[in-house]
Amino acid sequence: MTAVSTKVQGVDKGLEHTIASESEMSFIDGAKGILEYVGIPIGDLAQYSSYEEVVYLLWNKKLPTSTELDSFVKEIRDASELPEPMWDVIKQIPIEAAPMAALRTMVSSLSLYDEESEDDSVESNHRKSIRILARVPVLIANFDRHRKHREFIRPDKHLSMAGSFIKMLTGKEPTESMAKALDTCLVLHVDHGLNASTFAAIVTISTLSDMYSAVTTAIGTLKGPLHGGANEAVMRMLQEIGEVDQVQSFIEGKLERKEKIMGFGHRVYKVWDPRAIYLRGFSEQLAADTGNQKLFAMSDAIEKIMEQRVGDRGIHPNVDFYSATTYRSLGLEIDLFTPMFAMSRVAGWAGHCMEQLSDNRIMRPRCAYTGPHEAPYTPIENRG
Ligand code: ACO
Repeated sequence: MTAVSTKVQGVDKGLEHTIASESEMSFIDGAKGILEYVGIPIGDLAQYSSYEEVVYLLWNKKLPTSTELDSFVKEIRDASELPEPMWDVIKQIPIEAAPMAALRTMVSSLSLYDEESEDDSVESNHRKSIRILARVPVLIANFDRHRKHREFIRPDKHLSMAGSFIKMLTGKEPTESMAKALDTCLVLHVDHGLNASTFAAIVTISTLSDMYSAVTTAIGTLKGPLHGGANEAVMRMLQEIGEVDQVQSFIEGKLERKEKIMGFGHRVYKVWDPRAIYLRGFSEQLAADTGNQKLFAMSDAIEKIMEQRVGDRGIHPNVDFYSATTYRSLGLEIDLFTPMFAMSRVAGWAGHCMEQLSDNRIMRPRCAYTGPHEAPYTPIENRG
């Protein structure tokens, strides 16, 4: 008898060929460069929709009527106040902490002040998803205030999530164009199939753990430079390069040393990531409006070399490449780029967790054992 079921096909390293769950949220065709949320192309949603509306779409699988949208937005705004003890939790975090590490701790701490944290009913999970969604921007912005020794600012219930976030972060009323730009970034990042952090979230929820644990797991997974952390790595690379005329030698050198260029390549897309196409144009405009043309010019030069050198291998810019110039042009500090990604993706994580729970089976793949068998147990005094 074999130790492994005959249905097991062999090792699929990185799970590239494994379909581990079903979802009605986002559709990706990596060969054609298509991304749709509930069937609607991402470019249309980025242009015409809003983050709150897209979250409603993903969670309810339909666009809301205006009454439904109003009541959904109200639900989010009403849930945005932090439990009072959370302000002390934020104050306890060392100011040197990386914002993603701080966010992971803060979201985990939120569960300690939610009486419903262990209630696994559908209704409770919806309410918790709203609370986490509404409170993550408050945590990110106010951790940034804490580390800069600034007074905390509470969420503004008259503003969109993007607008309220800007106000908490900067202490100033958001301009319409800034709020719209940030809102568009949130729309573009909200969901993307079974990416690593979403997979991590549904592994956790599949054990019938809880929403806070699942989102905490996902934050820890997003932060890696091969996933959401790549947007910060792109910006650091641009800073290291410094000037447009240094791009060629920098990129050629890295490719020769077989090092990866951050913001390029994707497990699923073998043509341009449609989010990168949108962000390219968006960041060019924003960079021009905010005097960050050099950043865009360097990105453009990197893209051209990469297209020439590795484009035919299906390595093109991904969502993180032009996000870096976009966020920088919006005035965000580098270590807030990945938290911005998390602020959006939290709705995707929660949506996938709710879908997983509606038809749950614990995630439990196998590994192929490669060690010895029937090895002798050697007493400790005889081990060399
Ligand atoms: N620069 C240079 N070469 C690359 C890059 C890159 N960015 N990405 C892939 N390659 C090459 C690899 O070196 C490898 O070459 P080889 O076959 O000669 O060894 C080949 O392409 C396949 O690469 P893998 O890393 O095996 O591809 P995988 O599908 O496992 O990984 C990933 C995808 C992680 C995104 C990868 O392309 C990468 O590390 N990119 C840089 C980091 C990045 O931008 N991550 C963000 C992705 S988007 C997101 O998560 C939100």
